[in-house]
Amino acid sequence: MCPADTETIGNGEPAWWKEAVVYEIYPQSFNDSDGDGIGDIPGVIEKADYLDELGIDVIWMTPPYDSPHADNGYDIRNYRSILDAFGDMDDFDRLLSELHDRDIRLILDMVLNHTSDEHEWFRKSRREEDGYEDYYHWVEGDPDQPPNNWTSGFGGPAWTYDDTREAWYLHLFHEKQPDLNWRNPEVRREMHDVVEFWLEKGIDGFRFDVFNVMSKPEGYPDGDPDGGWIGMEHFSDGPRIHEYVGGLYDDVLSAYDVMTVGEGMDITPRAAKRYCGPSGDGLNMVYHYDHTMLDYGDGGWWDIVDWEVSEIREALTKWVQQLEVTDAWNTVYLGTHDTPRIVSRFGNDDRYHYESATMLGTLLLTFPATPFCFQGDEIGMTNYPWSSREEMRDADATNRVELAFEEDSAEEFADVADVVRYRSRDNARTPIQWSGDAAGGFTDGEPWIPVNPASEEINVADQRDRTDSVLSYYQDLIELRHNEEALVYGVYDLLTDDHPRVWAFERSLGDERLLVALNWAGRTSRVDLSDAGEVTSILACNYDDPGTDLGALALRPYEARVFRLA
Ligand code: GLC
Repeated sequence: MCPADTETIGNGEPAWWKEAVVYEIYPQSFNDSDGDGIGDIPGVIEKADYLDELGIDVIWMTPPYDSPHADNGYDIRNYRSILDAFGDMDDFDRLLSELHDRDIRLILDMVLNHTSDEHEWFRKSRREEDGYEDYYHWVEGDPDQPPNNWTSGFGGPAWTYDDTREAWYLHLFHEKQPDLNWRNPEVRREMHDVVEFWLEKGIDGFRFDVFNVMSKPEGYPDGDPDGGWIGMEHFSDGPRIHEYVGGLYDDVLSAYDVMTVGEGMDITPRAAKRYCGPSGDGLNMVYHYDHTMLDYGDGGWWDIVDWEVSEIREALTKWVQQLEVTDAWNTVYLGTHDTPRIVSRFGNDDRYHYESATMLGTLLLTFPATPFCFQGDEIGMTNYPWSSREEMRDADATNRVELAFEEDSAEEFADVADVVRYRSRDNARTPIQWSGDAAGGFTDGEPWIPVNPASEEINVADQRDRTDSVLSYYQDLIELRHNEEALVYGVYDLLTDDHPRVWAFERSLGDERLLVALNWAGRTSRVDLSDAGEVTSILACNYDDPGTDLGALALRPYEARVFRLA
């Protein structure tokens, strides 16, 4: 796509995964085909034409494997089979071919760091069966004293004492997610085989879950007790991590033309460079978190603080600038299955629902990085009004709420309601609102998690019929990204590094120059961008009658404009 002698944001060759728009599917909440209340793979197949119409190129599907679902599939019991509630391997094969028929590729989430405690390796390891003793991190010792002070990402200690083996095992997440011991060459071989199994099926790549925490230091030293997630400095980018990631690439991934994106915990651009491209460990890109941590207080994820536009602008710009002309390609996302809904978090889900949902979509689809759109954000889905503990499903949120009750910082749900409504991962996991019918058209049965009452107003059926909907705007912007190579490969220049509300940037590739101006506020914002030159046409705007005088731009609440420049 891109001429070889032009200055671009990356110095590597053009590649399909750089040009792709990725759409994340969380299958249990996508579409239920059989009325059991749980989304499934045939349900995704039923919506293949919808995905095609949307115009996306790649689907990232969160774990579809057999699992007890203590952490919604990130606790895998069998890497080579599909969860019964989702269907079976024939359904999976059918999905792959239906997507490929529509030129849509499929990448799978692969959890390398941990399994379920119900995986046969853990069951054997717990009983110290021959050859399996060292598949996990086991430490013997006082049953009342964990081996160190590390905490789990879901709160509480990262170690659980196992009465069968009479030893502690490590779990950086839920106690039903024991960490695999990657020091053991047998574990590495097993995981390489799993990755190869799926590549041989013809999938198009992987999103590697929390990939950079796979290496733990010998002796498990205590972490900084004041850190948000205690122990992170020891297990993120740990001592042998490049051997493990590079080894996976050399042994397996390098033989396939696939997309690989690693989810980096606490990752920096500097670390990302070491994981990516031919000069690094071979991954294509990493998923990073700086811009989504802007509303964390000292206590981390559950400690909510106000944020400024300048923080998200700086965080995302830093990644572009530091990865520019390196072997590491960039990613951009605003929402995932782990975050609140983007229009509720970064926009205004009430008065400026359309305007802010489309402004956020404009950033996502014009930014210099492969964009990842989370299911439902293309119709502007909103956070759920949680009102009781019984409605909640997520292991992280329920654990935090239990802890608040145990520690007496909460006496009734109302004491935690605001935090849960803002922060719970369940906000992203309520079913896709296909229509205004019962259960939002997601299922004929009882949904596994409540459907958002907003489905009556915000749903696909309504938006599909309207040209002034969030959905139509996303379709147009995806098409624009496909048509304008400057949006993929063009150099990024930040034009407003100190404006309190406006984020404007230029993307240029050879003679092509585009300007993106975004107003991140529920009021009109004025800005002078005359230094950027003359507008020749308007490529996108979420309001009627946008002006083109760059010297006196008045951007209406959450207005987004994309201009072509002379
Ligand atoms: C990743 C997943 C998240 C999961 C965690 C543990 O962050 O995105 O959903 O809970 O890893 O596997």
